[in-house]
Amino acid sequence: MLWEPIASAPDALRLLPMEAPWHPATDNSPFYAVKWLSYAANMASTDLARRRGYDEALFLTLDGLVLEGPTFSVAWVAGGRLETPSLGLGILPSITRAVLLDEAAPRLGLPVVEGVFPLARLLEADEALALSTVKEVTPLAAVGDRAIPRGEVSGRLAAAFREIVVAETG
Ligand SMILES: Cc1ncc(COP(=O)(O)O)c(C=O)c1O
Repeated sequence: MLWEPIASAPDALRLLPMEAPWHPATDNSPFYAVKWLSYAANMASTDLARRRGYDEALFLTLDGLVLEGPTFSVAWVAGGRLETPSLGLGILPSITRAVLLDEAAPRLGLPVVEGVFPLARLLEADEALALSTVKEVTPLAAVGDRAIPRGEVSGRLAAAFREIVVAETG
């Protein structure tokens, strides 16, 4: 077993969208929705994003559909709903995403829509979020050149998520 402290991260992330031809959504991979160990391409994408002045990458299909980040899921608030890419695209069934959709959003009375969304949909969002065990519920500050507004729903979702974590882990 190895451990190391979690590196401090920005309180809002700037994502560089990029096509991810190696992603299971685009290459008929046998590793569909699997948390596999071949993360080299994902790690290289994070590195590329950082060299371009962003915090992280955001993966798209070759048709420009939103998938996920190298180590996180994404969701956004649009028109009073929480939207997020469907697991049917081959993204990882993230635990954080599941808790947010199944428990945190219902606590806020926020309807959830899982679907297939072009990047333009995320760019027009009212608020947007990165989701993972490490990032928990972290707002997005920008996607590419587009600034994403900071709204109050993100904070309420993050607080609801934290309450659930505390209730389950003490
Ligand atoms: C590709 C990908 N998507 C999403 C996630 C988030 O998963 P979880 O919420 O289970 O940490 C991860 C975590 O490593 C990941 O690698």
